[in-house]
Amino acid sequence: GKGEYRHFMLKEIFEQPAVIGDTLHAFLNPLGRKVTLPELSFDLGNLPRVTITACGTAFYAGMVAKYWLEQVARQPVELDIASELRYREPPLPEGGLSLFISQSGETADTLGALQYARDHGQRTLSVVNAAESSIARDSDGVLQTLAGPEIGVASTKAFTTQLTVLACLAIGIGRARGTIDPAREAALTEALIEVPSRASEVLNHDGKMREIANWVAEARDVLYLGRGNMYPLALEGALKLKEISYIHAEGYAAGEMKHGPIALIDENVPVVVCAPSGPLFDKIASNVQETNARGGRVILFSDKAGLERLGDEAAYTVELPEVDPFVAPILYAIPVQLLAYHTAVIKGTDVDQPRNLAKSVTVE
Ligand code: F6R
Repeated sequence: GKGEYRHFMLKEIFEQPAVIGDTLHAFLNPLGRKVTLPELSFDLGNLPRVTITACGTAFYAGMVAKYWLEQVARQPVELDIASELRYREPPLPEGGLSLFISQSGETADTLGALQYARDHGQRTLSVVNAAESSIARDSDGVLQTLAGPEIGVASTKAFTTQLTVLACLAIGIGRARGTIDPAREAALTEALIEVPSRASEVLNHDGKMREIANWVAEARDVLYLGRGNMYPLALEGALKLKEISYIHAEGYAAGEMKHGPIALIDENVPVVVCAPSGPLFDKIASNVQETNARGGRVILFSDKAGLERLGDEAAYTVELPEVDPFVAPILYAIPVQLLAYHTAVIKGTDVDQPRNLAKSVTVE
Protein backbone atom coordinates (compact mmCIF):
# COMPACT_ATOMS: atom_id res chain seq x y z
CA GLY A 1 0.00 0.00 0.00
CA LYS A 2 0.87 3.67 0.04
CA GLY A 3 1.44 3.75 3.79
CA GLU A 4 1.68 7.30 5.07
CA TYR A 5 1.94 8.72 1.54
CA ARG A 6 -0.87 10.31 -0.42
CA HIS A 7 0.25 8.76 -3.71
CA PHE A 8 2.40 5.84 -4.84
CA MET A 9 4.51 8.29 -6.80
CA LEU A 10 5.49 10.20 -3.67
CA LYS A 11 6.17 6.96 -1.79
CA GLU A 12 8.38 5.78 -4.63
CA ILE A 13 10.26 9.09 -4.75
CA PHE A 14 10.99 8.73 -1.05
CA GLU A 15 12.09 5.10 -1.45
CA GLN A 16 14.99 6.17 -3.64
CA PRO A 17 17.76 6.33 -1.02
CA ALA A 18 16.93 2.76 -0.02
CA VAL A 19 16.56 1.23 -3.48
CA ILE A 20 19.61 3.02 -4.88
CA GLY A 21 21.49 1.58 -1.91
CA ASP A 22 20.14 -1.93 -2.59
CA THR A 23 21.11 -1.65 -6.25
CA LEU A 24 24.60 -0.38 -5.43
CA HIS A 25 25.01 -3.28 -3.07
CA ALA A 26 24.51 -5.68 -5.96
CA PHE A 27 27.06 -4.02 -8.25
CA LEU A 28 29.74 -2.58 -5.96
CA ASN A 29 32.21 -3.91 -3.50
CA PRO A 30 32.30 -1.04 -0.98
CA LEU A 31 35.43 -2.28 0.78
CA GLY A 32 37.43 -2.78 -2.37
CA ARG A 33 35.96 0.41 -3.90
CA LYS A 34 35.36 -1.60 -7.04
CA VAL A 35 32.52 -2.39 -9.36
CA THR A 36 31.46 -6.05 -9.41
CA LEU A 37 29.53 -6.94 -12.55
CA PRO A 38 28.12 -10.44 -13.04
CA GLU A 39 29.97 -12.86 -15.31
CA LEU A 40 28.95 -12.16 -18.92
CA SER A 41 29.37 -14.32 -22.00
CA PHE A 42 31.26 -11.57 -23.87
CA ASP A 43 34.23 -9.30 -23.25
CA LEU A 44 33.32 -5.76 -22.17
CA GLY A 45 36.80 -4.54 -23.01
CA ASN A 46 36.57 -5.03 -26.71
CA LEU A 47 33.26 -3.68 -27.97
CA PRO A 48 33.43 -1.74 -31.26
CA ARG A 49 30.25 0.04 -30.28
CA VAL A 50 27.51 0.04 -27.68
CA THR A 51 24.05 0.72 -29.10
CA ILE A 52 21.64 1.90 -26.39
CA THR A 53 17.90 1.63 -26.94
CA ALA A 54 14.85 2.26 -24.77
CA CYS A 55 11.63 4.30 -24.55
CA GLY A 56 10.57 7.30 -22.48
CA THR A 57 12.23 7.74 -19.13
CA ALA A 58 14.34 4.62 -19.65
CA PHE A 59 15.66 6.24 -22.85
CA TYR A 60 16.76 9.29 -20.86
CA ALA A 61 18.63 6.98 -18.47
CA GLY A 62 20.30 5.56 -21.58
CA MET A 63 21.20 9.05 -22.68
CA VAL A 64 23.01 9.72 -19.40
CA ALA A 65 24.77 6.38 -19.91
CA LYS A 66 26.04 7.55 -23.29
CA TYR A 67 27.72 10.54 -21.64
CA TRP A 68 29.19 8.29 -18.93
CA LEU A 69 30.42 5.60 -21.31
CA GLU A 70 32.06 8.12 -23.60
CA GLN A 71 33.66 10.04 -20.77
CA VAL A 72 34.74 7.31 -18.37
CA ALA A 73 35.19 4.36 -20.71
CA ARG A 74 36.04 6.21 -23.98
CA GLN A 75 33.51 3.80 -25.49
CA PRO A 76 31.84 4.70 -28.80
CA VAL A 77 28.09 4.74 -28.21
CA GLU A 78 25.04 5.01 -30.43
CA LEU A 79 21.71 5.94 -28.87
CA ASP A 80 18.20 5.85 -30.23
CA ILE A 81 14.63 5.43 -29.10
CA ALA A 82 13.43 1.90 -29.71
CA SER A 83 10.57 2.75 -32.08
CA GLU A 84 13.00 4.54 -34.38
CA LEU A 85 15.90 2.14 -34.14
CA ARG A 86 13.93 -0.96 -34.99
CA TYR A 87 12.41 0.42 -38.18
CA ARG A 88 15.39 2.49 -39.28
CA GLU A 89 17.20 -0.81 -39.60
CA PRO A 90 20.67 0.60 -38.92
CA PRO A 91 23.80 -1.36 -39.74
CA LEU A 92 25.24 -2.73 -36.50
CA PRO A 93 28.93 -3.57 -36.19
CA GLU A 94 30.01 -7.17 -35.81
CA GLY A 95 30.70 -7.96 -32.18
CA GLY A 96 28.83 -4.87 -31.00
CA LEU A 97 26.81 -4.72 -27.84
CA SER A 98 23.17 -3.66 -27.80
CA LEU A 99 22.02 -2.38 -24.43
CA PHE A 100 18.33 -2.23 -23.54
CA ILE A 101 16.81 -0.43 -20.59
CA SER A 102 13.28 -1.15 -19.37
CA GLN A 103 11.50 -1.08 -16.05
CA SER A 104 8.77 -3.51 -17.09
CA GLY A 105 10.87 -5.60 -19.44
CA GLU A 106 7.78 -5.82 -21.65
CA THR A 107 7.77 -2.60 -23.70
CA ALA A 108 6.84 -3.66 -27.24
CA ASP A 109 9.20 -1.36 -29.12
CA THR A 110 12.16 -2.15 -26.87
CA LEU A 111 11.47 -5.84 -27.29
CA GLY A 112 11.25 -5.33 -31.07
CA ALA A 113 14.61 -3.54 -31.06
CA LEU A 114 16.09 -6.41 -29.05
CA GLN A 115 14.86 -8.86 -31.67
CA TYR A 116 16.43 -6.71 -34.38
CA ALA A 117 19.76 -6.63 -32.54
CA ARG A 118 19.74 -10.40 -32.08
CA ASP A 119 18.95 -10.93 -35.75
CA HIS A 120 21.95 -8.73 -36.59
CA GLY A 121 24.54 -10.57 -34.56
CA GLN A 122 24.76 -8.25 -31.57
CA ARG A 123 25.53 -9.25 -28.03
CA THR A 124 22.58 -8.17 -25.93
CA LEU A 125 22.50 -6.86 -22.40
CA SER A 126 19.44 -5.54 -20.62
CA VAL A 127 18.90 -3.38 -17.57
CA VAL A 128 15.46 -4.38 -16.30
CA ASN A 129 13.50 -4.07 -13.09
CA ALA A 130 11.25 -7.07 -13.74
CA ALA A 131 13.61 -10.05 -13.76
CA GLU A 132 10.90 -12.36 -15.09
CA SER A 133 10.21 -10.46 -18.28
CA SER A 134 10.45 -10.93 -22.03
CA ILE A 135 13.37 -8.51 -22.42
CA ALA A 136 15.33 -10.20 -19.61
CA ARG A 137 14.57 -13.64 -21.02
CA ASP A 138 15.70 -12.82 -24.55
CA SER A 139 18.96 -11.04 -23.59
CA ASP A 140 22.43 -12.60 -23.33
CA GLY A 141 22.99 -10.81 -20.04
CA VAL A 142 20.77 -9.06 -17.48
CA LEU A 143 21.60 -6.37 -14.93
CA GLN A 144 18.64 -6.02 -12.60
CA THR A 145 17.64 -2.76 -10.96
CA LEU A 146 16.47 -3.45 -7.43
CA ALA A 147 13.78 -0.78 -7.37
CA GLY A 148 11.06 -3.17 -6.26
CA PRO A 149 7.56 -2.85 -7.73
CA GLU A 150 6.84 0.59 -9.22
CA ILE A 151 3.11 1.31 -9.13
CA GLY A 152 2.92 5.00 -10.11
CA VAL A 153 2.72 5.30 -13.88
CA ALA A 154 5.37 8.03 -13.87
CA SER A 155 8.73 6.37 -13.49
CA THR A 156 10.83 7.62 -10.56
CA LYS A 157 12.77 5.02 -8.59
CA ALA A 158 13.10 2.87 -11.71
CA PHE A 159 14.93 5.77 -13.38
CA THR A 160 17.41 6.43 -10.58
CA THR A 161 18.16 2.73 -10.11
CA GLN A 162 18.68 2.43 -13.88
CA LEU A 163 21.18 5.28 -13.61
CA THR A 164 22.85 3.51 -10.69
CA VAL A 165 23.32 0.29 -12.67
CA LEU A 166 24.46 2.18 -15.76
CA ALA A 167 27.05 4.13 -13.75
CA CYS A 168 28.46 0.84 -12.49
CA LEU A 169 28.43 -0.57 -16.02
CA ALA A 170 30.30 2.48 -17.36
CA ILE A 171 32.97 2.02 -14.71
CA GLY A 172 33.13 -1.73 -15.43
CA ILE A 173 33.53 -1.13 -19.18
CA GLY A 174 36.15 1.54 -18.43
CA ARG A 175 38.13 -0.92 -16.36
CA ALA A 176 37.84 -3.62 -19.03
CA ARG A 177 38.99 -1.16 -21.71
CA GLY A 178 41.81 0.13 -19.54
CA THR A 179 40.58 3.72 -19.64
CA ILE A 180 40.04 4.08 -15.90
CA ASP A 181 42.78 3.52 -13.33
CA PRO A 182 42.17 2.06 -9.85
CA ALA A 183 42.36 5.49 -8.17
CA ARG A 184 39.69 6.94 -10.44
CA GLU A 185 37.55 3.82 -10.03
CA ALA A 186 37.87 4.18 -6.26
CA ALA A 187 36.87 7.87 -6.43
CA LEU A 188 33.83 7.18 -8.61
CA THR A 189 32.66 4.22 -6.54
CA GLU A 190 33.14 6.33 -3.42
CA ALA A 191 30.93 9.03 -4.97
CA LEU A 192 28.32 6.38 -5.80
CA ILE A 193 28.39 4.91 -2.30
CA GLU A 194 27.51 8.35 -0.93
CA VAL A 195 24.51 8.79 -3.23
CA PRO A 196 21.88 7.23 -0.91
CA SER A 197 22.67 9.59 1.97
CA ARG A 198 22.97 12.58 -0.40
CA ALA A 199 19.59 11.57 -1.88
CA SER A 200 18.04 11.67 1.60
CA GLU A 201 19.34 15.23 2.00
CA VAL A 202 17.76 16.20 -1.31
CA LEU A 203 14.40 14.82 -0.14
CA ASN A 204 14.48 17.36 2.67
CA HIS A 205 13.66 19.97 0.02
CA ASP A 206 10.18 18.54 -0.44
CA GLY A 207 8.54 21.56 1.21
CA LYS A 208 10.51 24.00 -0.91
CA MET A 209 9.55 22.10 -4.06
CA ARG A 210 5.88 22.38 -3.09
CA GLU A 211 6.30 26.14 -2.75
CA ILE A 212 7.92 26.42 -6.19
CA ALA A 213 5.19 24.18 -7.63
CA ASN A 214 2.61 26.84 -6.70
CA TRP A 215 4.17 29.07 -9.30
CA VAL A 216 4.78 26.33 -11.89
CA ALA A 217 1.14 25.22 -11.63
CA GLU A 218 0.10 28.62 -13.05
CA ALA A 219 2.24 28.21 -16.16
CA ARG A 220 1.13 27.11 -19.60
CA ASP A 221 4.65 26.21 -20.73
CA VAL A 222 7.82 25.31 -18.86
CA LEU A 223 11.37 25.01 -20.18
CA TYR A 224 14.02 22.73 -18.68
CA LEU A 225 17.70 23.32 -19.44
CA GLY A 226 20.84 21.31 -18.82
CA ARG A 227 24.22 20.66 -20.38
CA GLY A 228 26.38 17.55 -20.60
CA ASN A 229 25.04 14.73 -18.47
CA MET A 230 22.37 17.15 -17.17
CA TYR A 231 20.83 17.55 -20.63
CA PRO A 232 18.99 14.21 -20.30
CA LEU A 233 17.75 15.39 -16.89
CA ALA A 234 16.20 18.42 -18.58
CA LEU A 235 14.40 16.09 -20.97
CA GLU A 236 13.30 13.84 -18.11
CA GLY A 237 12.06 16.82 -16.09
CA ALA A 238 9.94 18.02 -18.98
CA LEU A 239 8.52 14.53 -19.58
CA LYS A 240 7.66 14.09 -15.92
CA LEU A 241 5.86 17.45 -15.76
CA LYS A 242 3.85 16.97 -18.93
CA GLU A 243 2.75 13.42 -18.18
CA ILE A 244 1.31 14.07 -14.74
CA SER A 245 0.43 17.80 -14.65
CA TYR A 246 -0.52 18.13 -18.36
CA ILE A 247 1.48 21.35 -18.57
CA HIS A 248 3.41 21.68 -21.79
CA ALA A 249 7.12 21.40 -21.10
CA GLU A 250 10.26 21.05 -23.17
CA GLY A 251 13.75 20.01 -22.29
CA TYR A 252 16.65 21.59 -24.12
CA ALA A 253 20.39 21.40 -24.19
CA ALA A 254 21.12 24.87 -22.80
CA GLY A 255 23.51 25.64 -25.65
CA GLU A 256 20.60 25.34 -28.08
CA MET A 257 18.64 28.17 -26.44
CA LYS A 258 19.84 30.85 -28.80
CA HIS A 259 19.01 28.68 -31.82
CA GLY A 260 15.29 29.06 -31.28
CA PRO A 261 13.70 28.38 -27.92
CA ILE A 262 14.87 31.65 -26.38
CA ALA A 263 12.09 33.24 -28.45
CA LEU A 264 9.62 31.64 -26.01
CA ILE A 265 11.07 33.38 -22.98
CA ASP A 266 8.94 35.84 -21.05
CA GLU A 267 8.03 36.24 -17.39
CA ASN A 268 5.28 33.61 -17.67
CA VAL A 269 7.52 30.74 -18.74
CA PRO A 270 9.35 29.16 -15.81
CA VAL A 271 12.83 28.02 -16.83
CA VAL A 272 14.12 25.13 -14.73
CA VAL A 273 17.92 24.91 -14.84
CA CYS A 274 19.85 21.85 -13.63
CA ALA A 275 23.38 23.14 -13.11
CA PRO A 276 25.76 21.46 -10.68
CA SER A 277 29.22 22.99 -10.31
CA GLY A 278 31.67 21.45 -12.69
CA PRO A 279 33.43 21.99 -15.98
CA LEU A 280 30.27 23.16 -17.78
CA PHE A 281 29.07 25.57 -15.11
CA ASP A 282 30.36 28.75 -16.78
CA LYS A 283 28.62 27.79 -19.99
CA ILE A 284 25.24 27.29 -18.38
CA ALA A 285 25.72 30.41 -16.26
CA SER A 286 25.80 32.48 -19.41
CA ASN A 287 22.64 30.74 -20.66
CA VAL A 288 20.93 31.68 -17.39
CA GLN A 289 22.07 35.30 -17.78
CA GLU A 290 20.69 35.40 -21.33
CA THR A 291 17.36 34.06 -20.05
CA ASN A 292 17.27 36.68 -17.32
CA ALA A 293 18.13 39.51 -19.67
CA ARG A 294 14.96 38.62 -21.61
CA GLY A 295 12.73 38.74 -18.56
CA GLY A 296 12.72 34.96 -18.02
CA ARG A 297 12.35 33.64 -14.48
CA VAL A 298 14.68 30.87 -13.49
CA ILE A 299 14.28 27.99 -11.03
CA LEU A 300 17.88 27.02 -10.35
CA PHE A 301 18.95 23.62 -9.02
CA SER A 302 22.61 23.82 -8.09
CA ASP A 303 25.03 23.34 -5.19
CA LYS A 304 26.49 25.80 -2.71
CA ALA A 305 29.26 27.05 -4.99
CA GLY A 306 26.89 27.27 -7.96
CA LEU A 307 24.28 29.24 -6.03
CA GLU A 308 26.93 31.64 -4.74
CA ARG A 309 27.86 32.37 -8.34
CA LEU A 310 24.44 32.42 -9.94
CA GLY A 311 21.78 32.46 -7.22
CA ASP A 312 21.06 36.18 -7.74
CA GLU A 313 19.95 35.50 -11.29
CA ALA A 314 17.22 33.06 -10.19
CA ALA A 315 13.66 33.59 -8.95
CA TYR A 316 13.92 30.34 -6.95
CA THR A 317 16.94 28.32 -5.92
CA VAL A 318 17.30 24.83 -4.51
CA GLU A 319 20.62 23.87 -2.97
CA LEU A 320 21.73 20.32 -3.67
CA PRO A 321 24.76 18.61 -2.14
CA GLU A 322 28.15 19.17 -3.71
CA VAL A 323 29.08 15.90 -5.44
CA ASP A 324 31.34 14.52 -8.15
CA PRO A 325 29.67 15.65 -11.42
CA PHE A 326 29.64 11.97 -12.44
CA VAL A 327 26.86 11.13 -9.94
CA ALA A 328 24.97 14.44 -10.21
CA PRO A 329 22.33 13.09 -12.65
CA ILE A 330 21.13 10.61 -10.03
CA LEU A 331 20.64 13.32 -7.40
CA TYR A 332 19.19 15.98 -9.71
CA ALA A 333 16.45 13.55 -10.73
CA ILE A 334 14.86 14.03 -7.32
CA PRO A 335 13.97 17.76 -7.38
CA VAL A 336 12.75 17.33 -10.94
CA GLN A 337 10.41 14.53 -9.81
CA LEU A 338 9.20 16.45 -6.76
CA LEU A 339 8.47 19.55 -8.83
CA ALA A 340 6.33 17.53 -11.25
CA TYR A 341 4.61 15.72 -8.40
CA HIS A 342 3.63 18.82 -6.42
CA THR A 343 2.58 20.70 -9.52
CA ALA A 344 0.25 17.83 -10.45
CA VAL A 345 -1.18 17.66 -6.91
CA ILE A 346 -1.88 21.42 -6.99
CA LYS A 347 -3.58 21.03 -10.36
CA GLY A 348 -5.64 18.14 -9.00
CA THR A 349 -4.74 15.58 -11.65
CA ASP A 350 -4.69 11.81 -11.10
CA VAL A 351 -1.01 11.58 -10.23
CA ASP A 352 -0.65 7.80 -10.09
CA GLN A 353 -2.86 7.12 -13.11
CA PRO A 354 -2.45 10.02 -15.53
CA ARG A 355 -4.92 10.16 -18.41
CA ASN A 356 -4.11 8.21 -21.57
CA LEU A 357 -1.08 6.45 -20.08
CA ALA A 358 -0.41 2.82 -19.18
CA LYS A 359 2.32 1.52 -16.89
CA SER A 360 3.50 -1.06 -19.36
CA VAL A 361 3.26 -0.29 -23.09
CA THR A 362 2.97 -3.76 -24.60
CA VAL A 363 1.51 -2.57 -27.89
CA GLU A 364 3.20 -0.30 -30.45
C1 F6R B 1 7.63 7.97 -17.91
C2 F6R B 1 7.42 6.55 -18.11
C3 F6R B 1 7.56 5.98 -19.49
C4 F6R B 1 8.39 4.69 -19.45
C5 F6R B 1 8.44 4.04 -20.83
C6 F6R B 1 9.34 2.80 -20.84
O1 F6R B 1 7.50 8.33 -16.59
O2 F6R B 1 7.15 5.84 -17.18
O3 F6R B 1 8.15 6.91 -20.36
O4 F6R B 1 9.67 5.01 -18.98
O5 F6R B 1 7.15 3.68 -21.23
O6 F6R B 1 8.84 1.81 -19.99
P1 F6R B 1 9.74 0.59 -19.57
O7 F6R B 1 10.88 1.13 -18.76
O8 F6R B 1 8.85 -0.33 -18.78
O9 F6R B 1 10.26 -0.04 -20.83
